Amino acid sequence: MRRPLVAGNWKMNLDLAQARELVKGLRDGLAALGPDARKVEVAICPPAIYLFPVAKYADGSEIKLGAQNLYYEPKGAFTGELSAAMVAETGARYVILGHSERRHTIGHLEDDRMINRKVKATIAAGMTPILCVGETLAEREAEQTLDVLTFQLTAGLVGVGLESADKLVVAYEPVWAIGTGRNATPKQAQQAHAHLRGQLREVAGNVADEVRILYGGSMKPDNAGELMSRPDVDGGLIGGASLKADAFLGIIKATLMS
Ligand code: PGA
Repeated sequence: MRRPLVAGNWKMNLDLAQARELVKGLRDGLAALGPDARKVEVAICPPAIYLFPVAKYADGSEIKLGAQNLYYEPKGAFTGELSAAMVAETGARYVILGHSERRHTIGHLEDDRMINRKVKATIAAGMTPILCVGETLAEREAEQTLDVLTFQLTAGLVGVGLESADKLVVAYEPVWAIGTGRNATPKQAQQAHAHLRGQLREVAGNVADEVRILYGGSMKPDNAGELMSRPDVDGGLIGGASLKADAFLGIIKATLMS
């Protein structure tokens, strides 16, 4: 059985006081859910500069920490970048890689080769990449969705040994659904997830059946249950709705019930 993972991607949001409040709200909310809450793994991915303080706020709780990025070189003259070892020192277990905002929006657009290097550096440092893949609206309309997913997944995993499922989480994030309020339908999500698992089987054999594939893109408490109930949807990568304790907890509860 795959244990669902609900991960919050805070992106470039919140100040430190708000981060502290949010973690407190999550801790209280999870405690109120009782031991059942452990059936879902919960992670939060704050801006890098908040990793150390947020690790303290979450200390002693079940909440795991993740980073939103890192650089693949181990050290050197890379002004403004963070190595995998530095990120790991904060206590982060997960690293979001290949997010569509880094592929398509932010100045130094990342390509699959760079993402692949980051995946390797993350695993080598003992952390788990959350490798994001997803088609643009134009690609979906041109019926290229499955080809894009195949390419991004296999390119991201070139030379990566996946001997166990804890080495990887995949996130299917259709670009047209991120931050738009327009989520993929459960049927669209299931089709993409099943395809990704099939591709993963080519690379990793039976380990593919244990790797979690998250859905991301305008997931909210009211659409989470239906998405999560699909057989290959193993959790969510949540942007906007992870910034409010109530909404994030609502998604966790919907996951528990699905
Ligand atoms: P969203 O973002 O939930 O705000 O659509 C998801 C993501 O980008 O990970």
